[in-house]
Amino acid sequence: MYNSKIAGLGYFVPENVVTNDDLSKVMDTNDEWIQERTGIKERRHVIKGEDTTMTMGVKAAKIAIERAGIAKDDIDFIVFATLSPDYYFPGPGVLVQRELDIKTVGALDVRNQCSGFVYGISVADQFIKTGMYKNVLVIGSEVHSTGLDFTTRGRGVTVIFGDGAGAAVLSREEDASKGILSSHLHSEGQHAEELSLIAPGMGTRWVTDIIKENDPNDVSYYPYMNGQFVFKNAVVRFSEVIMEGLMANKLAKEDIDLLIPHQANLRISQFIQRKFGLDDDKIYNNIMKYGNTTAASIPIALTEAWEQEKIKEGDLVVLAAFGSGFTWGSVIIRW
Ligand code: UT7
Repeated sequence: MYNSKIAGLGYFVPENVVTNDDLSKVMDTNDEWIQERTGIKERRHVIKGEDTTMTMGVKAAKIAIERAGIAKDDIDFIVFATLSPDYYFPGPGVLVQRELDIKTVGALDVRNQCSGFVYGISVADQFIKTGMYKNVLVIGSEVHSTGLDFTTRGRGVTVIFGDGAGAAVLSREEDASKGILSSHLHSEGQHAEELSLIAPGMGTRWVTDIIKENDPNDVSYYPYMNGQFVFKNAVVRFSEVIMEGLMANKLAKEDIDLLIPHQANLRISQFIQRKFGLDDDKIYNNIMKYGNTTAASIPIALTEAWEQEKIKEGDLVVLAAFGSGFTWGSVIIRW
């Protein structure tokens, strides 16, 4: 039985910065509302035709692979988490395999939205723990901006989301006291529609129906969020799943050196910070700069924290996420 460790990290965000004031020019919103309710000051949007979920994922992955000190052909398996794939099918995992020109290793796509990276890390960790694989590439990448409603009708969702990608290489760790100590995953499908994008879908409305109806009031192909309901569930589930991870490892909240919560809303992060009694240097937030980048938010934040030398060897690093599904999870890492 082995452990896995994070051997390399990378991220990529598009250069195109979109401020709250930029959004207020196309919809009825304002900088004060957005900052007060979410903490977001700006986010990145891809330039259409320049970057996609896959290309950003590949850019982040190349950095992670180089920092892991391995060659691309040492990658044994690819896990790609996204809610915004380049194609409806196939998923972007195989596109990464092609783009990186990696030999014919397996490629798995994870559909767990904001918890996608945590789920992806957990999957990679299991493959490494059993000895099946030595190096697994895990990517979280999203392009939201091309699928949002940029009218006042969509303002409750559109101002929150941003584009970007992050990646990690997980590698075999022989020392069982180090690396990923455990991961904890949950879901509650009864709330599936509370944060969702319903169409096009085989079970509801397929593309042909949408085209036939050509209804300008159709919002079924835009994301929907019952914001307050999601918020209330998020604060409870974040707290539970962090506690679950700590207890499984006989650790206490005082043992946390760095918490990296999924960047859903700065108010949610601050609530958790207070609840766990964490000083400012024990939690990392960057939602101010990037908005909510869903599956990409944790790997971008983790990479930035690592680059800024906020993580030292031996530190206890906790990742936690909650989002659409509902799905949520945590990962406890001894760095
Ligand atoms: O990443 C996955 C997990 N996601 C989350 O955890 C997100 C959780 N939810 C939230 O972060 C918050 O609920 C939001 C930031 C989405 C919304 O904040 P809120 O405080 O819950 O606002 P609200 O939706 O209750 O809306 C309050 C008011 C409404 O106006 P009335 O009805 O009070 O007149 C909205 O129409 O704010 C209005 N509003 C806006 N005003 C200006 C909604 N969006 C905007 C906007 N600009 N962008």
